[in-house]
Amino acid sequence: MEKSNGLRVILFPFPLQGCINPMIQLAKILHSRGFSITVIHTRFNAPKASNHPLFTFLEIPDGLSETEKITNNTKLLITLLNRNCESPFRDCLTKLLQPLDSETGDEKQRISCLIDDSGWMFTDPLAQSLKLPRLVLNTYQVSFFRNHFVLPQLRREMYLPLQDSEQEDIVKEFWPLRKKDISRILDVETELLDPFLEKVLKMTKASSGLIFMSCEELDQVSLSQAREDFEIPIFAIGPYHSHFPASSSSLSTPDETCIPWLDKQEDKSVIYVSLGSIVTISESELMEIAWGLSNSDQPFLLVVRVGSVRGTEWIETIPEEIMERLNEKGKIVKWAPQQDVLKHRAIGGFLTHNGWSSTVESVCEAVPMICLPFRWDQWLNARFVSDVWMVGIHLEGRVERNEIEVVIRRLMLETEGEAIRERIQLLKEKVGRSFEQNGSANQSLQNLIDHISSL
Ligand code: UDX
Repeated sequence: MEKSNGLRVILFPFPLQGCINPMIQLAKILHSRGFSITVIHTRFNAPKASNHPLFTFLEIPDGLSETEKITNNTKLLITLLNRNCESPFRDCLTKLLQPLDSETGDEKQRISCLIDDSGWMFTDPLAQSLKLPRLVLNTYQVSFFRNHFVLPQLRREMYLPLQDSEQEDIVKEFWPLRKKDISRILDVETELLDPFLEKVLKMTKASSGLIFMSCEELDQVSLSQAREDFEIPIFAIGPYHSHFPASSSSLSTPDETCIPWLDKQEDKSVIYVSLGSIVTISESELMEIAWGLSNSDQPFLLVVRVGSVRGTEWIETIPEEIMERLNEKGKIVKWAPQQDVLKHRAIGGFLTHNGWSSTVESVCEAVPMICLPFRWDQWLNARFVSDVWMVGIHLEGRVERNEIEVVIRRLMLETEGEAIRERIQLLKEKVGRSFEQNGSANQSLQNLIDHISSL
């Protein structure tokens, strides 16, 4: 770590795993460059402070009831948290900005800025009223963030439902998504989304900068377009996963028995299956995935989060005779040490929901993917994987045992899979170069450090 530069940064992650991991990674990066770190967080999904003894953690109440805490409705959660957290966050921030320590009377370290997630709706006016510069950390791919503001317009213009003949058409305003992808996104998102997007856009444009965990090598076109659109400094500091692993910010305890189990498997033989921290599936979808894995005859490591199969606790509804078959070839866990798993020599493929973190973690370890997106930005990440970088095969939403079996064989055993493996190795190397001295991510990070220091 560099010597302290005398500046403090306040971070305020949105309390979902997919948002906490990148924020804690950013905290580690800034700390390694000499900044002191204060993380303000909700009681709900609080990061484990003991894993980060060098940061200061401040908890605020979130007012969520026990039932609200376990809801699978992300939109409801965003609304409730924004409603409940504004006032406690204001109190906490105002106190932090007092120049003197209330106990010792000593002068406090200067606070350079607040960095929060684009899911918080009240932070921009509050930071402005307190004259505190605010930067936004966005956890999507740049392309998705830039283009998703066009969704209300597409809803008006696309004349949904689609004709069969136009399903595969590329949507030029949201390249490389196809019309069928847009209709899947809009199927879930109602008009209630529109004012929310308008607010995010306005608040982003008013901010002092926008940070992405991506790099020119993954997102070049969108990055230059985003710089024109938003007219604020934009930093694409790279998928820093291999330099600052996210495991320490895991909200669930990873099942470490995965690693000795993988040690017993052959090189590149295992298919790893995980659908991230938010996606839920039906019982029948779980059965199709389980049968597909079993019939493929490849060893597999399957993550089933507690509560992720709707209407059940965990995997108790899988009949015993099928469990026996599954246990012969595979291992099922509640949460995996994902980055260590993807790094393991035994892993040959990743059946993923294509959350942005999972997608870049897979690229960084050169693990080819089978794409099974369910919602929101996952559709775009999956199109990049299958159609642009060509480092995976898209299941096109078919959660069916035969499809899954065939796709696993294509990826793990056939020449198509070999070609994909070669391409993802090249992509990994290209992304890796962005961290070298003159690489894009490294330069962008330096620009971010200079920018924060100058605020
Ligand atoms: C959510 C949205 O689903 C996604 O579309 C958006 O891009 C970010 O927010 P999430 O479902 O959490 O993300 O997926 P992802 O972005 O892939 O993040 C999951 C994180 O949890 C990864 O860092 C992954 O390594 C970690 N993880 C996942 C584990 O450590 N263990 C697991 O078993 C599963």
